[in-house]
Amino acid sequence: MLNLVLFGPPGAGKGTQAIRLAEKFNLVHISTGDILRQEIASKTELGRVAGELIDKGELVPDDVVISMIESRLKKPRCTVGFIFDGFPRTVAQALAFDKLLMKHHSKVSVMLCLVVDKGELVERLHKRGLTSGRGDDLETTTIEHRIDIYNEKTSPLIKYYESQGKYFPIPGMGTIEEITESLIHTIEKFNTKPIAVTSK
Ligand code: C5P
Ligand code: MG
Repeated sequence: MLNLVLFGPPGAGKGTQAIRLAEKFNLVHISTGDILRQEIASKTELGRVAGELIDKGELVPDDVVISMIESRLKKPRCTVGFIFDGFPRTVAQALAFDKLLMKHHSKVSVMLCLVVDKGELVERLHKRGLTSGRGDDLETTTIEHRIDIYNEKTSPLIKYYESQGKYFPIPGMGTIEEITESLIHTIEKFNTKPIAVTSK
């Protein structure tokens, strides 16, 4: 099973790249941000609570996000792997995630971190805010707060995965195609086994 964690600050291009990689490697794309936004759109209780936090640029509590992942992994499906976009966000989530994957006799294969300058992140998020309909992409203060939260709570995960030899920084500043190529190049090192083996 190929389990990719696509990592990086808000605006790094995780969502854009995750869609391309999922297609290339036949992976199931799990975006916790998208799941939360669907909950908001469906006006569920989870959506109401999450919406308030998201609008402020805060993180949704670890147990809520972990149980979202747990229920997604429980779904029986035939796949060669998953790409996790926007999860884990904290060290506590990464620890719980490892336990969860262990229960499924699996593990994180690699953590790919998109590296983008802060100025570029702010510019991209402002631009996305014009069309995304996302309240958290509009205000400079919310954007700055999301980047601060990333630096404070999410970036410690770099050390967590680095200590396991799974951390791979990828330049996230070129064209979309160039960045996809760099990601593919790194993933292929971990995906040398044939995807489908037919034997009689
Ligand atoms: O991943 P994405 O940038 O789409 O997430 C948008 C917002 O959703 C985050 O700023 C945060 O408020 C919330 N979120 C979260 N925990 C996650 C994913 C998203 O709290 N694992
Ligand atoms: Mg995203």
